[in-house]
Amino acid sequence: HTILVLNGPNLNLLGTRQPEVYGRETLAMVEQRCVEHGQSIGLSVNCEQSNHEGALLDALHGARGVYGGVILNAGAYTHTSIALMDAIFSIELPVVEVHLSNIHAREDFRHRSYLARAALGQICGFGTQGYIMALDALRAHLDKDTA
Ligand code: DQA
Repeated sequence: HTILVLNGPNLNLLGTRQPEVYGRETLAMVEQRCVEHGQSIGLSVNCEQSNHEGALLDALHGARGVYGGVILNAGAYTHTSIALMDAIFSIELPVVEVHLSNIHAREDFRHRSYLARAALGQICGFGTQGYIMALDALRAHLDKDTA
């Protein structure tokens, strides 16, 4: 299986963006760790990032039938985008929603995730380790399907 790790708006700034909230690891470092951890559990990993909602929609549509699953940190679109929720419902792939921060412990407007309705599950509050946890979750999910 190949997994798409898809990051949304402002996550290209990881490492320098509010490091007290999001840490000092850059997106390139996180993506590299995802590739390496994927290898260690038998998953190929491709990574994409966009600041544009439409580009994220296109990436999700393109994942259908190509990838075995998606790890998605949609940034602030999480809290606003019915379109991204609909895309997740449409592509018939397991999607794990990831947030670096614990969105439920932050401002009220971050508590609602439209994506959570469509996602397999949500991992938040564990920093960049959340992406690794999401890979493990997808591995277990995919194994369950073929068992
Ligand atoms: C985030 C949480 C969102 O509320 C925020 O808009 C982000 C990052 C996270 O990873 O913690 O851009 O998705």
